[in-house]
Amino acid sequence: MVNLIADGKKITAAKGTMLLEALRASGIDIPTLCAHEAVTKSGACRLCVVEVKKGKRAKIVTSCLYPVEDGIIVETKNERVMNVRRLVMQLLMARCPESDVIRDLAAKIGVNPEPRFTPDTDKSKCILCRSCVRVCEEIVGVSAIGFSCRGSERTIGTPFNEDSAVCIGCGACVYVCPTNHITMETTHDKRKIWGRTFKMKTCDVCGRYFAPEDQLKFISKKTGVPMKELSVCTDCR
Ligand code: SF4
Ligand code: FES
Repeated sequence: MVNLIADGKKITAAKGTMLLEALRASGIDIPTLCAHEAVTKSGACRLCVVEVKKGKRAKIVTSCLYPVEDGIIVETKNERVMNVRRLVMQLLMARCPESDVIRDLAAKIGVNPEPRFTPDTDKSKCILCRSCVRVCEEIVGVSAIGFSCRGSERTIGTPFNEDSAVCIGCGACVYVCPTNHITMETTHDKRKIWGRTFKMKTCDVCGRYFAPEDQLKFISKKTGVPMKELSVCTDCR
């Protein structure tokens, strides 16, 4: 176990735990956008910054990627931390001026809603955190989406923005996206995502549409579980 002090409070955490996790477990609130428990951390949003003091040195670190260390003193809300966090927030607001999630978080942190930097005009809500790419790659295992272009032109999507042949319409990317950038429409027997329309399957017991057929076929192929067994919704199992 590792002992540290955060905001004047003694904290004990298992070795290898990330600082963000240890701080939250002890009741300290840290704002985040990109840290989703389902995928490996990217350190993309930088909102989780805190100050770590080791001996005489004090540095700003991204707590979601910083493993706990014995004897460190952590400040999560001092002036230095808050200045960095506000700056990060203002940059995120400029990148995604249309994002309600970012605007609400900014208000919670006490950031002035007036833009400090010139807002982007592409109306994107994407903070390029890669969580959607990672969940598709690491959890679902199909790699249907990725980044294209470089620098400020960087966007998320299917290769060449064409209909993805490998997407199974599961919606895992929507679930992990922190800013609601990805749109998915499910209406009865159809689901639309990434430009494709998926046919939904009805539950063999209750008759309710519950999952895209392509998703069930993919699971069946991957796991060897017959389609018949997968054709029952979670409520009826
Ligand atoms: S679409 Fe969402 S999850 Fe994917 S990179 Fe952008 S913000 Fe992150
Ligand atoms: S939560 Fe740590 S960088 Fe986004």
